[in-house]
This record gives sequence, C-alpha cells and structure tokens, in this order.
Amino acid sequence: MKSYPHSAEFAAKANTTPQKYAETYQESVENNEAFWAKRAEWIDWIKKPTKIKNVNYDLNNFSIKWFEDGELNLSVNCLDRHVAENPYKPAIIWEGDHPSLHKIISYKELHSEVCRLGSALRRKGVKKGDRVTIYLPMIPEAAVAMLACARIGAVHSLVFGGFSTDSLASRIIDSQSKIVITADESVRGGKHTPLKQNVDRALDHDGTECVEKVIVVYRTGESIPMSGRRDIWYHNLIDNASEDCPPEPMNAEDPLFLLYTSGSTGKPKGVVHTTGGYLTYALSTFRDVFDIKDNDVFWCTADVGWVTGHTYVVYGPLANGTTTVMFEGVPQYPDWARIGHIVDKHDVTILYTAPTAIRAMMKEGDDYVRKSNRSSLRLLGSVGEPINPEAWNWYYNVVGEGRCPIVDTWWQTETGGILMTPIPNTVDLKPGSAMNPLYGVMPAIVDAEGAELTGAAEGNLIIKDSWPGQMRTIWGDHKRFLETYFSTYPGAYFTGDGALRDEDGHYWITGRVDDVLNVSGHRLGTAEIESALVSHPSVAEAAIVGMPHELKGQGVAAYVILKSGEEPSEMLKGEINRHVRGEIGPIANLDSLYLVEALPKTRSGKIMRRILRKLAAHEFEGLGDTSTLAEPEVVDNLINVVKADK
Ligand code: WT7
Repeated sequence: MKSYPHSAEFAAKANTTPQKYAETYQESVENNEAFWAKRAEWIDWIKKPTKIKNVNYDLNNFSIKWFEDGELNLSVNCLDRHVAENPYKPAIIWEGDHPSLHKIISYKELHSEVCRLGSALRRKGVKKGDRVTIYLPMIPEAAVAMLACARIGAVHSLVFGGFSTDSLASRIIDSQSKIVITADESVRGGKHTPLKQNVDRALDHDGTECVEKVIVVYRTGESIPMSGRRDIWYHNLIDNASEDCPPEPMNAEDPLFLLYTSGSTGKPKGVVHTTGGYLTYALSTFRDVFDIKDNDVFWCTADVGWVTGHTYVVYGPLANGTTTVMFEGVPQYPDWARIGHIVDKHDVTILYTAPTAIRAMMKEGDDYVRKSNRSSLRLLGSVGEPINPEAWNWYYNVVGEGRCPIVDTWWQTETGGILMTPIPNTVDLKPGSAMNPLYGVMPAIVDAEGAELTGAAEGNLIIKDSWPGQMRTIWGDHKRFLETYFSTYPGAYFTGDGALRDEDGHYWITGRVDDVLNVSGHRLGTAEIESALVSHPSVAEAAIVGMPHELKGQGVAAYVILKSGEEPSEMLKGEINRHVRGEIGPIANLDSLYLVEALPKTRSGKIMRRILRKLAAHEFEGLGDTSTLAEPEVVDNLINVVKADK
C-alpha cells in the first residue's frame, strides 16, 4: 500500500520526530503517572496536585480520578494567563454565515466579556455546580458562555442548535438546568432557525420548572416574544455587569460540562467531563496533534454543540493561546468555494474538518476549491468517522496540494480528546488509518470473548488504562456508565468500535460494533430513532439499521410495521419521516423507509439486524443462516419491499 512521507520542508519545522515520538510514547506507557505529572505542569494550578492518578477499573472498587487534590480554574488557563502575556492576540476569529460578516476578538476582549457574563450569572444566583444549558449557534457568545460557566464553576450542557424542541427539553430536564442561554435565531446557509421559539416550546414540557432564566443573544433581530420575568437579553445583562469576576477555585475532579450523546440503548446519556483531567488532555493533545506554533490560525469546522467543538474549537486552542476560527455557516454557502475563501481570508494554517464535508466538496468538483490559493495551509485534519481513501486522497492532493500532512483523528465524546492519530512527522501516512495511539493511550484489540489479539488482527477495540480526558460518569446514572463501558471487557474501557491492526502495527477503525449509527459524523442511537417512530400514531413497530451512504458515510434505514387498518402510502411515509425529524432533529432523517409486514425475529424475539443491514445495502444474496428465525418467510416480504422501493 502506498504511504505518504512528510515533506522535508514540513519535517524541518515539525515539533517532533519519529524517534522522539517512539521514546515519549514508550516512556508515557511505562511510567504513565510520571508522564501525566509532567504534562499537568503545562497548566496553571491554584493548588498543584500531589496525587496524580487514582484509577481502578475493578467494578467493586471502581475509581477514575486524575490530579484529585489539585485546584484550578479553567477559564484562567484559557484567558488570564494569555492576557498577561499577549493581550491583543486574536483569540477568536469569527466568520459569519454571510461572507460580509466577520469579527476578531482579542484575548483581552474575550476575557472582559467572559468576566462580565460570569458576574451577571452570579448575580442571577448561579452557583458552583449549577447546570446551564447552552443552545446557541456558532457565534462567539457560545464560547463566552462556556468560559463564563467555567469561571464561576457552573456546569455547562451544550445542545446542538439542530436538535428539536423535544430533544432540547429532555436534555434540560435530565440536567435540571437553572439557566438556558440561547439566541433569537440561528442563521446557516441563509436559512433562519427560531432558537428562542424552540426554547419557549421546550419549556412548556413538564419537568422544566427548574429553569429560572432564559438569556437571549440578539443575533438576527427577528421579533420574538420575551416573557417579562423569565427572559433577559444577553446584551442588557452584560452591559451593566462588572468586569471583576474572581475565578471559582475548582477541584480537579469537579465537573466541567455535560454533553449528551447517543448510545446503543435508551435515551441519550449525559457524558460528564471534569476540570483538571479534561483541561490537561485538551491542552496537550491539541499541541501534540496539530504541531502547534505561536502564529497558527487554527480552524476546526465542528459545531460547538459536539465534543469536537468543545475540545478543538474552544478549550484546546484557547488553553494554548492559539487563535481559533469559528464559522457560523455551511461549506456550500454562498457556494462550494466558501471553505477555501475562508482559509485565504484569515490565513488559516490548520484546517480540521469531517469526511462528510470533504466528500460533499469533492463531489462538486475541483474548480470550487481552486478558486482559493490556500497557500497559508500547512496541516489538515479529519475527524468523526472513517475517511475513505478516495476522500483522503482528494483532501491531500486537491485541498492540500500534496503539501500538507493529514491527521486522521480517532476519538469519541467519551474520550474528551483524540486517542489515535499520526502525530505530524512521526510516521508515513496511510490513507484511512488513524495509525498510532497518542502518548499515554494503551489500545488493544480483543476477540468476542475478551482475549487480547496480538500482531496483525481485527476485533473489538478496547483501551486498557485510563487517560486524564476520560469521561467520569453518566449524569445521574453511574450504573449505566459502568455497564456500558466497563462490563463487556472487565478491566478495560470498551470503545464500541471495531479496529484492525496491520502488519506494521498501525490501527484502522472499522466502525461501530454496537447499535450506534454515525451519520455525517453525528451519532444516533437506533433505539432512540425507533422510539421516535413508534410514538407516531400509525406505527406499530420499527427497526432501524445503518446503510452505506455516498455523502453521509452512513444513512438511516427504517423498517416499519403499520398498525392494522393503516393504509401504506407515500404520503404516510413522508409524514412519518417528518415526525421523526421533529422528535429528534433534521439529522435523524430516514434515508430509506420500508413499510413491511413483519420483522425478522429469532424464536426468542430478537430482531436479526444483520439481515436488515444487508437488505438496506441492497445485498440480496448470501443473507446467511436464517434457520433460527421464528418465521423465515418474512425475509421474502422484506426483499420484495426493498426491491420495489426506488
Ligand atoms: C465515534 C464517536 C471524535 C469526535 C467526534 C465524534 C467514530 C470518530 C473517527 C475516525 C473512524 C471515527 C467512531 C467513534 N469516529 N472519529 N477518525 N475514524 N471513526 O464523536 O459523536 O462521540 O462519535 O465516531 O465510531 O466511536 P462521537
């Protein structure tokens, strides 16, 4: 297989070398605690930790604690220390949805606004440990709100602006948030979404009485109802607020944020990250993986509503004093040349985006990309889903003109930061491979019984020991946390992913091995979509599987049994799809919807998803052993329905 070495020019300036990587990795594994003690020196502590690592994966004695007697404030690490050194350096370059809009915010300005929002929140009674839901578009106020929470010790919970009212409500209820911070509207690709209206509707749900105030950022000026006692304009709130906002001293293990993500069963779970370990991990992985220099302009295209936005739009870059780009819009607006134009406009040096966006741009042809010169770029990154070699090659040759290495970064909401990637200038790149573990990360491949496979092998991916950025619990459900991640392979963290290790020892992520879908790099649980489906009055039963999708990587295929008496029709299918999008959000669009008579079930009643997956991929041969099905003849009906669908 062809692999890609780094150019001599890149290598000459790189922060590390193959040999240094090998030595540091070795050291980080052999003396893990000492390694992280050294890394923790990169942050400013109020009280330096003396205890570094306290990890025990034994379920009877379970503990994940890092730096447990340390005290710090995360916003001080992201702001105050850079204000002291370099106050006028741009912290955030904001690029609006419309190309005529941009704003540059220095570290000093960001610090001032964060402090004002922090003191205003304190005056509204927000205290350490209180939860704040942030439902904002990609505007600087989103970063300000996160950092203001961190400054006063409130726990933030971001909800992606593309989620529906119901998803927002369930996250507000689960987290019992005291405050919601939103905007009048969001704007993406010229299209407005009524965020404040969604919040109003969400707060009609039972269980949201916990919310005392709704803070509204003025983004578009669309007239919206403001309820007198509950709603406050963001600008009124901070205009009168004090800039004196003493940082709350936080224990390293105090929660920093919750972030809801889909699992294979049940409702989305609130992943909890804590302060000291998460910051250490965000700071050091950002610096290592992106080969960071002082004058870098770093652009991660992820929305702050996802973990990638938390760690690599906001916390990683700002903790390092790097300039971070925040883009409100979409790659196709006003046309497909936008990404390249933004790179040129702000002299972006590192671009970090998702395979979905790369495939979409690739499909539109090279001419759009060639409208920009992109000479400022020196490094590219990919995240969120496996990148197919074709997209990798296009990204490398067309976007990066063969000059920029690509870091294909594998990680998860649960891991807080990147766990595997080819650190620049440490290894020749293989398109589609996440290559090597980062420092201190100990991956292994196991078979279904949990036996570790050595050498070249394929199986399930586990991580044998902890790292500081690891999630600590599921909000309000520690039992589910232990069951989901630590009971499948006792003594190890189970990732839910499959992986292959090749003859050179390099890792290839093969995708989820559980019932979690990855649609355009967004995680969706099959159970979650199925329960949205059966809440439709015409639906009796439903099964969801993933299917190959040219642009999204994975699409959603639904098999639905209607209630008796319901007439199948295209109109009903459209209505069911709209219902699901309304319950979860537009990302849960059903790419295929099959109205079937029955589902293939074993005699014990378990749905054989393997068959549904094959059919959704239009593989009608080799369906494997169907003899254990309670009624093998249902497969014929399924084949007919799938074939009849255009
Ligand atoms: C799942 C995690 C990583 C933060 C954004 C998504 C898949 C992620 C890669 C990659 C192959 C990848 C995995 C993982 N995934 N990055 N570089 N190559 N697969 O976070 O929503 O928690 O999803 O995304 O399947 O388990 P997430």
